[in-house]
Amino acid sequence: MTSVSSGCSVPSSSVTPHQPTIASIQTHIDRLTDDLMASLQKPDHLSAEQRRGIIARYTSVLEGNFIYWMTGAYIAVRSEAARMKIMENLLEEVRDAHPLMMRKFAMAAHAVPTDSDTLAVQRSLTNVRLFIGRLSGVRIVVTMAFFEGLIQRFMPYLAELARLQGSTDMEYTDVHGVCDITHTEELYRALQAEMTLAHTPDTASSTKNLFEGVELLQTLIENIVVA
Ligand SMILES: [Fe+2]
Repeated sequence: MTSVSSGCSVPSSSVTPHQPTIASIQTHIDRLTDDLMASLQKPDHLSAEQRRGIIARYTSVLEGNFIYWMTGAYIAVRSEAARMKIMENLLEEVRDAHPLMMRKFAMAAHAVPTDSDTLAVQRSLTNVRLFIGRLSGVRIVVTMAFFEGLIQRFMPYLAELARLQGSTDMEYTDVHGVCDITHTEELYRALQAEMTLAHTPDTASSTKNLFEGVELLQTLIENIVVA
């Protein structure tokens, strides 16, 4: 059900010889997502405490940070396409109270984060926060593309953990598990627009690690799902 595997054509005129193409970025992100999903331990092979811990660490990261990350992304990007895409996301998050949905999900699964759940992800969460604060538009949009695709695929797993913990409140996983191919295509188009704008001699994304945020987020997710 991955949505990040959907194709997205790249206008050749906007790609310089040193800049990775949208297709190659998407391929790399798809592979990282596949690897992360393949590394997950089966929910019924985990103890109740291990399942609770994964839900709690996920909640401690997502509940209070997602809107903040999206706000950082909005401040960082320069293209109209990227701004529109991020604002669409922010509007939905705030209007539909997604942090509340997240909190209800954790409560129903008896997995409200404790001090130790919060501290377990402290270092890797700090690294993602500081990365967002560097306000590098292109790299933030690449990170968003990775995160959104991963979250969609992670939802059935999270829902199964909660179900095994006795929960029936699946609103959060239902809302975030929708595979929206149009949304993903728009996100990659926004990335193209952002890359085109950012490609000036002093801000060329080719001189930086385009996947810095993706790697930091990958480490954070690994800290969440480790049993
Ligand atoms: Fe959300």
